[in-house]
Amino acid sequence: MSEEKSPRLFSPLKLRSVELRNRVVVSPMCQYMSVDGAPTDWHLVHLGKFAIGGAGLVFGEETAIEPAGRKTYDCAGLWADRHVRAYRRINDFLKEHGATPGIQLGHSGFRGSCHGALRNWEALTPENTTSECPPWTVIGPSVPRGAKPWPKIREMDRDNIAANLKRWREATLRSVDAGFQVLEIHGAHGYLIHEFLSPITNHRTDAYGGDLYGRMRFALEVTEVVREAWPLELPLFFRVSAVDGKGGVWNIEDTVALAHELKIRGVDVIDCSSGGVSGSTDMPIVPRVPGYHVDYAREVKHRCSVATMAVGLITDALQAEDILRAQSADLIALARELMWNPHWASHAAKSLGLSDPFSVLPESYGFRLRRREAEAQMPWNQVSSKRRQQ
Ligand SMILES: Cc1cc2nc3c(=O)[nH]c(=O)nc-3n(C[C@H](O)[C@H](O)[C@H](O)COP(=O)(O)O)c2cc1C
Repeated sequence: MSEEKSPRLFSPLKLRSVELRNRVVVSPMCQYMSVDGAPTDWHLVHLGKFAIGGAGLVFGEETAIEPAGRKTYDCAGLWADRHVRAYRRINDFLKEHGATPGIQLGHSGFRGSCHGALRNWEALTPENTTSECPPWTVIGPSVPRGAKPWPKIREMDRDNIAANLKRWREATLRSVDAGFQVLEIHGAHGYLIHEFLSPITNHRTDAYGGDLYGRMRFALEVTEVVREAWPLELPLFFRVSAVDGKGGVWNIEDTVALAHELKIRGVDVIDCSSGGVSGSTDMPIVPRVPGYHVDYAREVKHRCSVATMAVGLITDALQAEDILRAQSADLIALARELMWNPHWASHAAKSLGLSDPFSVLPESYGFRLRRREAEAQMPWNQVSSKRRQQ
């Protein structure tokens, strides 16, 4: 096979004992379709189609470590043993079709107790109470300046932090039982960990605030408890907001310092995103141009000698291949493009000249599509296709 015929996008990647079949990753995507934290048939079909479509690593959505770590009533969670079986069923399916199942554990911090995207993240009010759970008081490192009266916000004290770390540990152990093979800590997008990191949202004067190392303490403690509970042979990812926003206070230098510390603590891949914290600033978001986080992934990869994942408006096979060939990242994550085309991997395989692009799909599809391709090459079809072009 020539250089061109062996695209990097379709080369496997070994992380600890786990071999991803290719570099196409399904980025975490909240679905707001869970019932009391548990995934449903929606998730089996939603995630299952990406495994059938040929992705190497399939992340489910941000999954709350405790009920109050959800954003909405419909968010995913893994705070109870009863959730484990439902995730295992999905993971068994993903593995059966050659994909590696990943979980993103998270806590919404003070971005919780609200309605979902379709209702513009409005805060839940007492009238929205469900039988199991009233709108809850949210937690964070500090009460944000100029906070609205609802949802109520509580600054975490040392006991709350200790209890929270325990929840991360328990959810990690459940992730093992559920058969996940990759775990990502959600440290981005203005949720709890990012709220501790950014000086916009962390005004503490104790050991969890102040200078960069004080603000990183919570993120690093979460990483330590998770790494300790997550089997040594399985890879750990961490999603960062590489910058709060354009000209943000948390910047790429802070991210590089954080990534160094995460690597020392056993994080294998830094997943580079941005944004989520703005507070009362009018900081603009990072402009949404194709591959808008790739520069951050490259910088972290080279300055910290750690594997990185690039995400953000990567839609085209050649674009993805160029990112890998330029050694800007080791993995390519896609979200919205995969929603539109869950079989993106096999289309990418064709664009990049893989000798049998249908091999990326299950054989029951590949067999039929190869036949269709052969039929299209028949002389009579060549004639009619020429006529159509005239
Ligand atoms: C529907 C939807 C839900 C998302 N949910 C999450 C999430 O649960 N966790 C997360 O870290 N990012 C989440 N994201 C962000 C994506 O993972 C991704 O970083 C972002 O959409 C940029 O990639 P894209 O241009 O390929 O869509 C979500 C994005 C979408 C579109």
